[in-house]
Amino acid sequence: MEPSAEVTYRRFAARDVQPARRLSGAVGWAHREEDWEFVRALGSGWVAMAEGEVRGTALTWRHDSRYGSIGMVIVEPGWQGRGIGRQLVERALLTLGDRSLTLNGTREGRRMYERLGFRVVGTLEQHQGAPGNVPPTKLGRGERLRPVGASDVPRLVKLGLAASGLRRAKLMHALLAVSEGIALDRGDETVGFALCRRFGHGRVVGPVVAPDAVRAQALIGHWAAVHAGTFLRTDVDRALGLGPWLAELGMPEVDAALTMVRGEAPGRRGDVTAFSVVNQALG
Ligand SMILES: CC(C)(COP(=O)(O)OP(=O)(O)OC[C@H]1O[C@@H](n2cnc3c(N)ncnc32)[C@H](O)[C@@H]1OP(=O)(O)O)[C@@H](O)C(=O)NCCC(=O)NCCS
Repeated sequence: MEPSAEVTYRRFAARDVQPARRLSGAVGWAHREEDWEFVRALGSGWVAMAEGEVRGTALTWRHDSRYGSIGMVIVEPGWQGRGIGRQLVERALLTLGDRSLTLNGTREGRRMYERLGFRVVGTLEQHQGAPGNVPPTKLGRGERLRPVGASDVPRLVKLGLAASGLRRAKLMHALLAVSEGIALDRGDETVGFALCRRFGHGRVVGPVVAPDAVRAQALIGHWAAVHAGTFLRTDVDRALGLGPWLAELGMPEVDAALTMVRGEAPGRRGDVTAFSVVNQALG
């Protein structure tokens, strides 16, 4: 490229999904066009244009009036190191106003985000593979797994809020339209769930919300058994310790992202925990 080539910025439009997929493929991300469309439809974003082509992307999501996220920040390899990433993230920050923000960033992006006021608060492990023998997990008395139905949306939104501090009803509706789901009931109460949907090279399990690690294993183990021998991914918070169990299942850690926050981190509000995220972008 010409070093002097002009770079302009405009809002991300539906027609940008196809070039955006080309960029994510160029940096080794597995997203299909459908995966881009899913995240785009839930938020908004920016593209960097040069020589008539999309050279960079950044998406934003407003979870509520207090919290938001940034993700899918990519600059085409031949155009990196010229300030495009920073320009895109600065525009994303303006879109999100004074909300506190979270993101899961690569090591490559760390310095850029730190200079823009983000700090590292954790690590998100990317686990994937074709799960093999799934040992059955023993549930407690009165506990059972059952399929999730459309009428579960309010319950799942409530559990999501308890686990993450975010009330994300629109996201839950969108997820249930493309996911299979399993819920963990204890007596009359639903105390956990795990969704599974097509993504990238196969399927992804997430979000997973559970009262503890044993129940999270029962929920993830359900999908590992249903889809045994096929490509399955899940992204888990390292601090919660599921990594070795997933590796034994045939889903080793293949990469890790840094969880970063700008402002105040949304906090858990109940006695359940988010073990796996929806995806790295949405958290
Ligand atoms: C991360 C990424 C978006 C940065 O885009 P970019 O256009 O190259 O970044 P910029 O030129 O705006 O540089 C931003 C800052 O990061 C620093 N930086 C850029 N590339 C770097 C690298 N390879 N290693 C360390 N720091 C780097 C720059 O010095 C700059 O700091 P400054 O603004 O204080 O001078 C780009 O490298 C990329 O697309 N990587 C692959 C996908 C990815 O990892 N995305 C982030 C996921 S959240």
